[in-house]
Amino acid sequence: MIRFPPLTVPSFFHPIIEAWVIWLTTTFISIPAAFFYMFVDAPSALVRCLLASEPKCIVITGASSGIGTSLALAYAKPGVTIGLLGRDESLKKVAEAVNSRWTSAEILVCDVADTDKLAQTLKEFDDRHNIDLLFANAGQLGYTIDTDKEWEDQWDRIIDVNFVGAVATAMTGFKLMEKRKNRRGGQIAITSSISGYFFMPQTAYYNATKAALISFGRDLRYIGRQHNIKVTVITPGTIDTRMTTDPHQPVSLPSWLLTKPETLAQIIKRRLSYNPATIAYPFSEHLVSWVTQSLPTALLDNVTWLVGKVSSSFSQTGSRGFS
Ligand SMILES: NC(=O)c1ccc[n+]([C@@H]2O[C@H](COP(=O)([O-])OP(=O)(O)OC[C@H]3O[C@@H](n4cnc5c(N)ncnc54)[C@H](OP(=O)(O)O)[C@@H]3O)[C@@H](O)[C@H]2O)c1
Repeated sequence: MIRFPPLTVPSFFHPIIEAWVIWLTTTFISIPAAFFYMFVDAPSALVRCLLASEPKCIVITGASSGIGTSLALAYAKPGVTIGLLGRDESLKKVAEAVNSRWTSAEILVCDVADTDKLAQTLKEFDDRHNIDLLFANAGQLGYTIDTDKEWEDQWDRIIDVNFVGAVATAMTGFKLMEKRKNRRGGQIAITSSISGYFFMPQTAYYNATKAALISFGRDLRYIGRQHNIKVTVITPGTIDTRMTTDPHQPVSLPSWLLTKPETLAQIIKRRLSYNPATIAYPFSEHLVSWVTQSLPTALLDNVTWLVGKVSSSFSQTGSRGFS
């Protein structure tokens, strides 16, 4: 029998072909589609926004600081119950601030990495109140290579909280909403990050978990449609929280460069009301990230190197672990 050699393109041509494919896709598919959606999405979002009912019971993981606290305050108003989930009693201060707005706040002490306890905590809360909106928001940032720690310890912590914890939160909520007899459904918002598209390479574990959440949330949204459960992935840019201002964190940017968490929380609240697939804010940062991510791989490699070098100088601890 005659065996033909496999049809292959010499690897020398791969970057050229890749660049051509990206150019053709962008020019003839992505840009025309973007224009189309601009005119279709805006009016339909307005209609959905007008028809939407406000959630009466909300749970927020990682509510003790930053974006989680701002979300709790953004939703705080009379008649609303908010479950504030976090690891310790520092939630008390947030609960007091929420309660002062005539809202009923309940403290749920739980580590999201402890998935059994998390499931039990959410179920007990749902039995009492019926969760309408669930934020899988808790997360941690860290260097990929930290000279003080073994890589497994670092990876375990980041994946257990950012990925396993977020998926466990979303899926526990999903199951509780799905089982409701009245088919009322519910809404789940998963906090990923702009780093799921492109970010500084020193935080590779973090970036990988956030990229995984974008993919997970997109697919869960599809599954949720059959059960009247809305799923949205939130990808914040650089926000002025402990994660970006604490000098021990890999990113330490000047505050004036960062978006206030209160602003982000208001944007999230407004946009969630019309059930978008993603909430990407601030837009300018995402534009840079999306363009960078779609570069041909050879060029992206050089951009990653450059971003790594530049971002080291922004970090107060320098390029720790990379010397
Ligand atoms: N800040 C940014 O620029 C930015 C950008 C993109 C995405 N994000 C994402 O936004 C989310 C919120 O972050 P943030 O900016 O608000 O930072 P933050 O102020 O550090 O808040 C993180 C929250 O997560 C909680 N948390 C951490 N590990 C936990 C665990 N194992 N179990 C339960 N709660 C835990 C923290 O509670 P403790 O007080 O117990 O530590 C804290 O309440 C994260 O998922 C983060 O990845 C942030």
